[in-house]
Amino acid sequence: MRDCSKKARSREGSKINVFFLNQEQITDMNLILLGAPGAGKGTQGKILSDRLHIPQISTGDILRANVKNKTALGIKAKEFMDRGVLVTDDIVVSMVEERLMMNDCAAGFLLDGFPRNMKQAEALEAQLVRIGKGIGHVIGIEVDKKTLVKRLSGRRVCRKCGANYHIIFSQPLNMGVCDKCGSAEIYQREDDKEETIEARLVVYEQETFPLIEHYTKKGMYHAIDGTGVVDGITGSIMEIIGQRSNNS
Ligand code: AP5
Ligand code: MG
Repeated sequence: MRDCSKKARSREGSKINVFFLNQEQITDMNLILLGAPGAGKGTQGKILSDRLHIPQISTGDILRANVKNKTALGIKAKEFMDRGVLVTDDIVVSMVEERLMMNDCAAGFLLDGFPRNMKQAEALEAQLVRIGKGIGHVIGIEVDKKTLVKRLSGRRVCRKCGANYHIIFSQPLNMGVCDKCGSAEIYQREDDKEETIEARLVVYEQETFPLIEHYTKKGMYHAIDGTGVVDGITGSIMEIIGQRSNNS
């Protein structure tokens, strides 16, 4: 181990073990999940965050929490989100910059839905340089358009805990009641209405898709087939980041 090692914590059962990771290992756990709306970034992000003990930073979730709480940021963002277009870069960049400075990101983080265009990618890279970090892997979850539309139009979300369901692929055990928290408030996201889905897919093609080439050139991009079962996709991602899939 080198002297630049940083302290990180991992949970094993109820015990907390303190061990040391070197800078390279920490960078390996700085992850980006890239993919079109409905590709499964949120679904995989939650599982990976639990398994790897790193925070999932979903800009969409942070923005939705602001909308729900009617903060100034949320009121501004809602107008963009409801139309399926990107919220302005200054808002999301400063939101992520602030989040990455929190202590729980010390041993790694998983960005879900950020960066979403070149400007955001450059801002992220500049911040990571400033704080002596880097990106380990960019995982691109690739799914065909027909499947994306089916997933998004059928998605339902628990308003209370954010758990995701699908009217065909993954229904709650009791119709209309969240398996995770028991809430009866399962709703359809405003931007999952058909006309907004189309707008989001166009925005993805025009603004986010070019990031694949950007990260491919940097040797960081790994494409994953996102059309299989959830567990299989998680396994493929875990292999890429060098963790065994039963590592939990
Ligand atoms: P955001 O919340 O990030 O939405 P998104 O990118 O459009 O992606 P989704 O959350 O819809 O899809 P996902 O890939 O997470 O898929 P999920 O796992 O849920 O952004 C929303 C809005 O916020 C944006 O439009 C923009 O306005 C704004 N915003 C956010 N970030 C921004 C940024 N950086 N800059 C500017 N603006 C920003 O899965 C979808 C469905 O499929 C679920 O029902 C799930 O159960 C199902 N499913 C998942 N995997 C599988 C599988 N393997 N098999 C079958 N079903 C599956
Ligand atoms: Mg999501």
